[in-house]
Amino acid sequence: MGKMVQNFCLGLFLQVLAVAAIGMDQHLNIWPMPKSVSHGYNNLYLSNDFELKTEGSKYVDASGILKDGFSRLIEIVEVAHVIDSNFSHFDHSALLQGMHVVILSPNDELQYGVDESYKLSIPAPGNEVYAHLEAQTVYGALHGLQTFSQLCQFNFTMRVIEVHKVPWTIIDQPRFSYRGLLIDTSRHYQPLPVIKNVIDSMTFAKLNVLHWHIVDSQSFPLEIPSYPKLWDGAYSVSERYTTADAAEIVSYAERRGINVLAEIDVPGHASSWGIGYPSLWPSMDCQQPLDVSNEFTFKVIDGILSDFSKIFKFRFVHLGGDEVNTSCWVKTPHVKKWLSKHGMNESQAYEYFVLRAQKIALSHGYEIVNWEETFNNFGSKLSRKTVVHNWLGGGVAEQVVAAGLRCIVSNQDKWYLDHLDTTWQEFYMNEPLTNITNPKQQQLVIGGEVCMWGEHIDGSDIEQTIWPRAAAAAERLWTAYDNLAKDPRQVTGRLAHFRCLLNRRGVAAAPLAGPGRVAPLEPGSCYVQ
Ligand SMILES: *[C@@H]1O[C@H](CO)[C@@H](O)[C@H](O)[C@H]1NC(C)=O
Ligand SMILES: *[C@@H]1O[C@H](CO)[C@@H](O)[C@H](O)[C@H]1NC(C)=O
Ligand SMILES: *[C@@H]1O[C@H](CO)[C@@H](O)[C@H](O)[C@H]1NC(C)=O
Ligand SMILES: *[C@@H]1O[C@H](CO)[C@@H](O)[C@H](O)[C@H]1NC(C)=O
Ligand SMILES: *[C@@H]1O[C@H](CO)[C@@H](O)[C@H](O)[C@H]1NC(C)=O
Repeated sequence: MGKMVQNFCLGLFLQVLAVAAIGMDQHLNIWPMPKSVSHGYNNLYLSNDFELKTEGSKYVDASGILKDGFSRLIEIVEVAHVIDSNFSHFDHSALLQGMHVVILSPNDELQYGVDESYKLSIPAPGNEVYAHLEAQTVYGALHGLQTFSQLCQFNFTMRVIEVHKVPWTIIDQPRFSYRGLLIDTSRHYQPLPVIKNVIDSMTFAKLNVLHWHIVDSQSFPLEIPSYPKLWDGAYSVSERYTTADAAEIVSYAERRGINVLAEIDVPGHASSWGIGYPSLWPSMDCQQPLDVSNEFTFKVIDGILSDFSKIFKFRFVHLGGDEVNTSCWVKTPHVKKWLSKHGMNESQAYEYFVLRAQKIALSHGYEIVNWEETFNNFGSKLSRKTVVHNWLGGGVAEQVVAAGLRCIVSNQDKWYLDHLDTTWQEFYMNEPLTNITNPKQQQLVIGGEVCMWGEHIDGSDIEQTIWPRAAAAAERLWTAYDNLAKDPRQVTGRLAHFRCLLNRRGVAAAPLAGPGRVAPLEPGSCYVQ
């Protein structure tokens, strides 16, 4: 064995170093594709005490975000096989002793728009035995660790983790600052470990916003201290989140570079609120939208957002505002009376409701996300701090940014994960800047989000419905436009590889062939499913 390794290491040096063209070599199995990549053709092996070095950083890692990220890196690269190599047989020049991480900003606050760029270099075999990772912020460094993890694989001859194709130089940054995934815990309750697994899997694809559609008509699982009967609207006493649970999810996500966007969807999608407080319903048999004529409705929204502001520290809160069917308001005598007293018809009352909820959110320091119907109906009245969340179809972002507002793209025909017949190719090709050419307007499209609505989703099937299609969208949102494939067939192999990587890490990502959430068609390698 000793001799074989020595000969092998000699061989390493004799190999000719080659550097790939900058840009999109689709045979490099990195997902999402970085901004620029160069590599060689040698191997290094991770030392059994592969270590993190941080000298030279302005960042002190007071809360251990980097240290934990580094431990997770080791976990995910070592999870798939037992490493039973005898390291004393290795030539030291072939061993990578650790990674030297330099972070320039001391600030570890996960602000919206935080610098997520990084530069990763891994040396050729020789005397330099550390990889180097440099980033402005710890969150950029976490992305660099994810990229590094994808260059690692178990070598069955050496029985150790190999970093292939060294030396590497990778310079990377995201195309969009908002790269979201929606989960819905109203249609089905999602236990904490399930949500945490989803968060972990998001980091593998460099997604950075978990949009938590917490409550809806069907159930109200979250504790609201200001109005303690709201979670009487949960499906059962056990299918609930305490405020401490919610804070735990936020902190778990933030430590991984993921912001949590909390949503209450008002005034429609809210009948579960009335289980605890029936006066929020227009009447017992007409239960939504929330009663616009009742001051208590707005007090409850104020209480919820006040409680939110202690837990959900993201710059934005989502106020919903979609699919508002106002027929209950006109049908219910006391609401009808209130409308005529205030000289409002039903659509004016819808506008009044949304704008008043916006003002409450602003008073708690939030900027606002609203579903696109609010823009479609009274766009010019919305707070300028509104981000319009597209969902109905294409072409909306174009109108929103022309009106000078910001936009998140989630058109349901392409980016709704619950639409099982939408293929990963369609997810990949959905371009948020379609028909938007003015650079100032392009800036207003802050990103996009894939939506995992929960009607048919619980802990049993959420992962395979999200993955791999969310990864296709993740590359669209991360990778520089010029590095994106113009034809999805160019990336099939690379995405298949990423899907198998997710499986190896214990994520139940479904095969690529066919639409969403299919079972493997027949016996065969993971890479061809
Ligand atoms: C590793 O190799 C050395 C030298 O050949 C030997 O002394 C040692 O017992 C080996 N260790 C293990 C764990 O096999
Ligand atoms: C593993 O290591 C051997 C040398 O022992 C090398 O020939 C091979 O290319 C490496 N990689 C893989 C994927 O086996
Ligand atoms: C609105 O709700 C009423 C029942 O409250 C229903 O009859 C009507 O069809 C709904 N309208 C739409 C457009 O869904
Ligand atoms: C409500 O009133 C506004 C202003 O008069 C009008 O433009 C709109 O068409 C009315 N909507 C309905 C549904 O009656
Ligand atoms: C973009 O513009 C073209 C040409 O006007 C149009 O056919 C297409 O539908 C537009 N796409 C979207 C998503 O609006």
